[in-house]
Amino acid sequence: MAYNFTGKRALVTGGSRGIGKVIVKDLIDAGAEVFALAKTQANLDKLKYEIPNVNIIAVDLADWDATRKTVEIIVSPTGVRTELFEKVMNSPDLKKVYDEMLVRHPLGKITEMKDVSNAVMFLLSDKASMITGTILPVDSGYMFMKMAYNFTGKRALVTGGSRGIGKVIVKDLIDAGAEVYALAKTQTNLDKLKSEIPNVNLIAVDLADWDATRIAVENIGDVDLLVNNAVFFDEKIADYSFIETPYEFLEQSINVNLKSAFNISQVVARNMMKRSSGGAIINVSSLAGLRPFKGVSFYCVSKAGMDMMTKVMALELGPHNIRVNTVSPTNVRTERFEKVMNSPDLKKIVKQIRQRTKKMKHGHF
Ligand SMILES: NC(=O)c1ccc[n+]([C@@H]2O[C@H](COP(=O)([O-])OP(=O)(O)OC[C@H]3O[C@@H](n4cnc5c(N)ncnc54)[C@H](OP(=O)(O)O)[C@@H]3O)[C@@H](O)[C@H]2O)c1
Repeated sequence: MAYNFTGKRALVTGGSRGIGKVIVKDLIDAGAEVFALAKTQANLDKLKYEIPNVNIIAVDLADWDATRKTVEIIVSPTGVRTELFEKVMNSPDLKKVYDEMLVRHPLGKITEMKDVSNAVMFLLSDKASMITGTILPVDSGYMFMKMAYNFTGKRALVTGGSRGIGKVIVKDLIDAGAEVYALAKTQTNLDKLKSEIPNVNLIAVDLADWDATRIAVENIGDVDLLVNNAVFFDEKIADYSFIETPYEFLEQSINVNLKSAFNISQVVARNMMKRSSGGAIINVSSLAGLRPFKGVSFYCVSKAGMDMMTKVMALELGPHNIRVNTVSPTNVRTERFEKVMNSPDLKKIVKQIRQRTKKMKHGHF
């Protein structure tokens, strides 16, 4: 049999001698880039002498942490800068692994241990009490983990900023020094926001209207921070099986939850790229984008679409220093949530929600 593993990277543990050594040799003959892992440096040196283009790694497989870190450096798109990492980096044979990692990483830099520690600290603290089971990739510089923020000189746009979670984001951003635009559909809700937070800027537009939204966002000018948070969702409508779901719910959900974020991000990201300013975009999604929930198919598909949109945006905009992330809350204790929970008429819905979110903690915003 003839094999062709050109372009493939192979890791062979116990690759310094015996059967492992034969596998190493066969893989290299078939065109693979091979890493031979063993404990004894002398045996690896001997292997390297016999097969010069093998990459050698000395690590004791009985040491769980050291092994894990070593393999993570080889396979991870974002290596962590440990002592071991430095050792590997200083090896002339593995310098190219580092270079390849940087190229694969959208932001072109390696995660520092401090970044990981910041994430861990955040997840450990009460501030992260609403996060459970969420995939939170630490991909270089999760600076939001710092507890003090300064957004002076930045302009922020928050969709759905008139109430609920969006309103809290608006307030936090203003407290951190940003110039903030809150976008919503209903003027009265925006006016109420203004009476509570006088130095917010208001934009009233229906996000389901693609062209009107585009013009409204273009009129803001430069935006540095974008939070796509608006949503079409109401617990009262969260009771339709997939086959009974009315077209209007699907249409509104896709238009407001997904297409508007796509639309606004295009305008904002294009402007960021033109200015070479970089920037940050957050898509507020939901656990419903990651897991199916009965009765809300229209909502689930819009959020799943948003999650994939985030990934593609991050990939394409990373080289322009525009970071795009999703936060995916579970149920959050908003005014609407409290209203639903306390309404005697909505007992059935409350029961459904409780069933759906069984064992999930309610987040606080
Ligand atoms: N609340 C939760 O438990 C929960 C859980 C998981 C995820 N999330 C996500 O968190 C985000 C915020 O949720 P929330 O509960 O805080 O929302 P909310 O209280 O229902 O507020 C919705 C916001 O979106 C705006 N909006 C709705 N339709 C619009 C349209 N056609 N055009 C312009 N603006 C429109 C509303 O503006 P008006 O004032 O004009 O109506 C309002 O500001 C959403 O993306 C949601 O999916 C929430």
